[in-house]
Amino acid sequence: MTSSLNERFVRALIKHLPAKRGVLDRLQKVLGPDLHVALFYRFLSPVIEATTGSRNLHGGFFERGTESWHEAQERLTTVLGERCGFGPEHHLLEVGCGVGGAAATMARTLGCRVTGLNISRTQLRRAVAWMPRQGLENRVLFARGNATRMPFRWAQFDHAYAIEALSHIPDKEAVVREVARVTYPGARFGVFDACAEDPDALQADPDFGFVCSSWGVRKDAWIRPAVLPAAFQRHGFSLVEEQYMTPQVGPSAAAQAEYLRQNGSRIRDLYGVEVFDIIMATLEITRRYVASGLISYKLWIGEKSS
Ligand SMILES: C[S@@+](CC[C@H](N)C(=O)[O-])C[C@H]1O[C@@H](n2cnc3c(N)ncnc32)[C@H](O)[C@@H]1O
Repeated sequence: MTSSLNERFVRALIKHLPAKRGVLDRLQKVLGPDLHVALFYRFLSPVIEATTGSRNLHGGFFERGTESWHEAQERLTTVLGERCGFGPEHHLLEVGCGVGGAAATMARTLGCRVTGLNISRTQLRRAVAWMPRQGLENRVLFARGNATRMPFRWAQFDHAYAIEALSHIPDKEAVVREVARVTYPGARFGVFDACAEDPDALQADPDFGFVCSSWGVRKDAWIRPAVLPAAFQRHGFSLVEEQYMTPQVGPSAAAQAEYLRQNGSRIRDLYGVEVFDIIMATLEITRRYVASGLISYKLWIGEKSS
């Protein structure tokens, strides 16, 4: 398989940039969080899709221990939807919708209508082109925009959710404020994400910068334990559930690594062995952070008064 110019550029980016910590830190400062994340997905979305092997750019929920990596990824979305009480009568907003995997699962399994919001034009183009192939083009729509300044009028959605998107956005307060503005009274906002349980220990860990650049997450953007409950409270949501999901989601890094050991030849062919090794190293460090309790996985559900 021959690599395109884009793939060769991505290969150079992944191979060389993480080693240049000073350059990377200065670059991130100059770009700011919005441009940083838009460029990250502009160039790396195809690699990330290849590493998950699906349209779901998130971890998996392993409840039986026998499910495949892809089954567990889909289950994570339906668990969130079920816990939030989403159903066919609801129009949902997905904050940070990637390439549409979670929105499609929500529409297919729970019968909801979904509008996916994303700052990345590249991902949105892929999501829009994919929905007709799923037969979901009338139930899943998309909008381009920033979660901190949403391109929607007041009270437009029944409920909202975000899966591994808020980690990219330092200003969680603005996101919760915007979700409060664009949803109806009584709306629920379900957020699933990784949580930095010990930010100081993470900052001191020599691999933390490497992992942050691999996931496209700024060091200061990781969700800290008290941040979402406080933001919910300030913007009219009461915290109805804070579910510790590490036992079910924690196996994700190892499961994804195993999936790649068996199915990673495409990544090796297109991007080279060094990029493949960087991806495997990222998954191993993530596994270690979860095993040592530095990172947990949580579902927070807030509800507006009706
Ligand atoms: C890890 S992906 C998760 C995608 C999707 N939720 C899923 O589970 O497959 C994070 C997504 O959040 C989006 N995102 C990050 N910052 C954003 C912002 N400020 N406004 C809108 N979308 C944003 C990214 O472009 C990306 O699509």
